[in-house]
Amino acid sequence: MAQRTFSIIKPDAVRDGHAAAILADIEKAGFKIVTIRKQSISNAQAQGFYYVHKERPFFGELCSFMSSGPIFLMVLEKDNAIADLRKLMGATNPANAEEGTIRKKYAKSIGENAIHGSDAEDTAKFELGYWFAGYELI
Ligand code: CMP
Repeated sequence: MAQRTFSIIKPDAVRDGHAAAILADIEKAGFKIVTIRKQSISNAQAQGFYYVHKERPFFGELCSFMSSGPIFLMVLEKDNAIADLRKLMGATNPANAEEGTIRKKYAKSIGENAIHGSDAEDTAKFELGYWFAGYELI
């Protein structure tokens, strides 16, 4: 059944000119781009988005990085979208990512890792609702 997931092309990948290549990989893998928006986010917006990580030692670094330049926020749809996007992204640490995955091709480090994708149905619901209004998701 068609499922939606939330994804971000992160500041490192946008800065390095990889956004179009990543979007092409996503479309080639069969995802429909339901909605997409390029914007810069504030540190406070990043903190709200990543609140589940607020006790982690890397939280400050993560929020500074995510607010360091423009990103692409998007909602993607396909059968099994959440798991399939995670597979296409590759491991969080690009050093452990499989060949052909987005992080293997474009990520620099565990912190600057090119792309985010929701890890479960409840997080996808929170994350897409955090950034998009209902009328943008028709
Ligand atoms: P993401 O999928 O966006 O969700 C949380 C992010 O925290 C993760 O990708 C990484 O970019 C980041 N992260 C996870 N572990 C570390 C770490 N050890 N150091 C810095 N950033 C991390």
